Amino acid sequence: MAAPGSTLCGHGWVVRRPPRARCATPNRVRQEVSPLPTPLRVGFIGTGGIAQRHLKSLRQLGPERARPVAFCDIDEARAAQAAAGYGGTVYTDSKRMVDAEDGLDAVFVCTPPFARAEPIEAAAARGLAIFCEKPPAFDAEQGRRALAAIRRAGVITNVGFMYRWLRAVDRARDLLEGRTIAAVRSAFLCGPAVERNLPAWFYLQDRSGGPLMDQAIHVLDLHRYFAGEVASVHALAHTTFREHTADFTIQEAYSLNLAYASGAIASHLHSWACTAAMGQVEWISDRARLAVDLFANRLIGTVDGTPVDETFTDDPYLREVDQFLRAVADGDGMRMRSPYADGLHTCAVAWAGLRSAATGRVETPERFTQ
Ligand SMILES: NC(=O)c1ccc[n+]([C@@H]2O[C@H](COP(=O)([O-])OP(=O)(O)OC[C@H]3O[C@@H](n4cnc5c(N)ncnc54)[C@H](O)[C@@H]3O)[C@@H](O)[C@H]2O)c1
Repeated sequence: MAAPGSTLCGHGWVVRRPPRARCATPNRVRQEVSPLPTPLRVGFIGTGGIAQRHLKSLRQLGPERARPVAFCDIDEARAAQAAAGYGGTVYTDSKRMVDAEDGLDAVFVCTPPFARAEPIEAAAARGLAIFCEKPPAFDAEQGRRALAAIRRAGVITNVGFMYRWLRAVDRARDLLEGRTIAAVRSAFLCGPAVERNLPAWFYLQDRSGGPLMDQAIHVLDLHRYFAGEVASVHALAHTTFREHTADFTIQEAYSLNLAYASGAIASHLHSWACTAAMGQVEWISDRARLAVDLFANRLIGTVDGTPVDETFTDDPYLREVDQFLRAVADGDGMRMRSPYADGLHTCAVAWAGLRSAATGRVETPERFTQ
């Protein structure tokens, strides 16, 4: 299956310019539902770190676009803290929230991945649009359940793969339009395993899936966005600096080799044990190579002998929430670049990587999407 906006041509996937503000993904669920009056009424399920980021975006977009009216967290004090200033209602059970809040239009599902499927199923059953944080599912079975509920309801969805909304990424797609991607090279280094500055569940393999499932998944999603579907994955994992203990069961770093359905190849290195942080993805064609610096929102490289060095200042978190609100208000799910069904295909690449690191074998993402 092709990446959104890509076509198979000769030796590989050829990147075509994505239609502006439309998602041409083949995995989308339904493109059009009834438009809704604004301000939209939105609820939050999970009110921790990323929920605060999305609330900031809602504040920036203004109360005429959307009003947060309901907040759910199993930690009631945290939900109450998030609700302060909005006058919203506080809940500790997501199903109770979506059943009680008659006027809701959309929810932001910002729970950890192990608490993802139930809120999605409950929200879909009420016909609510769903902005779901990554990874969209904890495992393939939960992903299938959530997707079935979404398909039954035909609601608009988006997964928080915000790098698809980075202007530097848009520019790379413009410049690579019509070219064949032969290889992708990426690395992402940061220090949560050294600094231990994330909530405790991030450090438990059977809760977060570690650096691969929680964060490398962003980069693997960008790989797919340009180079199409991954046919097979081989992964190595290691932990160098910390002992495995009851509260630290993740691997610190992963190295992945990927083969695409197109014949393109890729490598990705991901570490949570390097505080000298960097994040870079480079797409390679015969007469072009372009690398996006994800932290600096900068695009560097060469196209047909001409150097490229462009820096952008947009906020991809703001842009994805802006587009989600527009999609819900207009009833136009085609705007979204990461519908839930498409996000599951990126999940499958990460699951195949986890399995490969455990078995030592080359694994196929396809087994997780059947
Ligand atoms: N897109 C991004 O850049 C980005 C950044 C950070 C986190 N995330 C993702 O967002 C998700 C949440 O991460 P976070 O950093 O906000 O974590 P967090 O621990 O700060 O917040 C999660 C919140 O969910 C609550 N919760 C847990 N189970 C619940 C349930 N069943 N019902 C309601 N609330 C529940 C917790 O009490 C907590 O307050 C993760 O999947 C993470 O990978 C994405």
